Amino acid sequence: MIYLDYENLGKIDEANGLSPEEISATEKSIKKYLQKIHSKNAGFYECIDDQTQIKAINVFAKKSEGKYTDIVVLGIGGSALGTACLKQCFKKFAIDATKNSDITTPNLHIISNIDPVLIKKFTTILDLSKTLFIVVSKSGTTPETMAQYLYFRQKCKEKKLTIKNHFAFVTDREEGLLREIANKENIPAFEIPRNVGGRFSVLTAAGLLPAKLCGIDIQKMLSGAKKMRDEFVSPEISKNTPFRLAAIQYLLNQKGKNINVLMPYSQQLDRLTDWYTQLLAESIGKQGKGITPLKALGAEDQHSQVQLYNDGPNDKLITFIEVETLSDPLIIPNPHTDIPAFDIINKKVTFNKLMTLEKRGTEMALTENNRPNITIKINNISEETLGELFMMFEGSIAFLGEFFEIYAFDQPAVELGKKFSKELLIKEYS
Ligand code: PA5
Repeated sequence: MIYLDYENLGKIDEANGLSPEEISATEKSIKKYLQKIHSKNAGFYECIDDQTQIKAINVFAKKSEGKYTDIVVLGIGGSALGTACLKQCFKKFAIDATKNSDITTPNLHIISNIDPVLIKKFTTILDLSKTLFIVVSKSGTTPETMAQYLYFRQKCKEKKLTIKNHFAFVTDREEGLLREIANKENIPAFEIPRNVGGRFSVLTAAGLLPAKLCGIDIQKMLSGAKKMRDEFVSPEISKNTPFRLAAIQYLLNQKGKNINVLMPYSQQLDRLTDWYTQLLAESIGKQGKGITPLKALGAEDQHSQVQLYNDGPNDKLITFIEVETLSDPLIIPNPHTDIPAFDIINKKVTFNKLMTLEKRGTEMALTENNRPNITIKINNISEETLGELFMMFEGSIAFLGEFFEIYAFDQPAVELGKKFSKELLIKEYS
C-alpha cells in the first residue's frame, strides 16, 4: 500500500509550495494524457499481463533448480538497474521457491560496467561450471554488454562447458545479435516486448527472470504492479497516485524546482534511487527540457547533503520514502547507565524509531525553510510494494512526459553517443 503525502506543500509559501487547488486543477488533463500515452504504444503497463513469458520463466526456473550457485546478469542501464534494486531489497532475504529450507538460492551478481578490474574480479570468484549468465540487452547489440558476453563465453569455452547450459538471453523477440545467436545455438531466450524501453523493463523478463531464479516472489511483484496500474488508468486524480506525483513535479518545476531529490529512509531502497535516476533523466531530459534527478539516502545524507537542501538555492523538490515497518525492531542498548546523556536510551529506543524521527525532523526543518518536500509512505519492503513502486514511478514518468510535451519512451541522445563510440572503435582498430 502506497500513500503519497504532500501536505507540507500547502504549509510553505506560495512561491515554493502548492495549494491543493493548484494540484487538483490538473485533473482535467488525465483522460487526454492517458489517451496520448496509449497512442504512443507504451507497453510498460501492459507487459505485466504477459502470461506466456511468466510461464516460460517459471518452467526455466524449475529446470534450473539446484543447478547454479551463481546467477550473473550482464547488462547496462535499464537492463541492469532494476535487477540491482531487486537484489538489494530481497536477495539476502529470499527463501527458495521449493520451500525446502536446506536448498539455498543462488547468489546474484550484476555486472553493469566494462572496467577490466571488475571483469577480472568476477573471473576469479565464479565457479563457471555452476554459473548461469543472463545476458540482458533489448537491442542485442549494446557494445558494453556484448563485450562482457564475449569475454565470459570464451571463459566458459575454455572450461569446455556447454554454452546453452550456462547462458540465457533476454532480448528482442526477432532482432539483434543475441536473438540470432539464440536461434542458431538453441540458447534459452526470453523477450523484452518491442514497446517496452530498457528503463521500463524491470517487470518484464529483464527483471523477472533473475528475480525468479533467486527465489524472489515475482507473482507478488506483479500483483503489486497491477494494483498500481489500476490507479494509473483512473481518470480521477484522488485515485491516481502516479498522476498526482507527476503533477506535483511538473507544477513545482514551473516554480523553478529543476532538481528532484529522491531520499528513501531505508538502506534496502538505496538502489531504487539509481533505477529512478535513470528513469527520470533519460525519459524527460529532452529538447532542452527536463528535471535533474539527485539521489540521497536517509539518515546518512542528512550529514552530507541536507545543508544544501535547506539553505542553498531553493531549486529542489525533495521526495522522501518512509517505510512504516523497517524490519524487526532493533533496540539500542545502553551500556553507559552512568552517563546521564544516555538516559533517554533506557526507554528502549529502537533504530527503527530513530530513523523515522530523523526523517520527520528533516522534513519539518525543510518545511520551515519553505523547501518543497513530499513523502511516499509504504507499509513495508515486500515484493508487492516494490511492484507498486515500480509501476507508480513508471506511470508518473509517462504523465510527466505529457506535462512537458515530450516523448518519454526513447533516448535519442544516448543512441547518438552509442553511434559515435562504435565509429571510434571501428576507426581505432581498422
Ligand atoms: O533505458 C534504456 O533504453 C537504456 O538505458 C538501455 O537499457 C541501455 O542503453 C541498454 O540497452 P540494451 O538493453 O539495448 O542493451
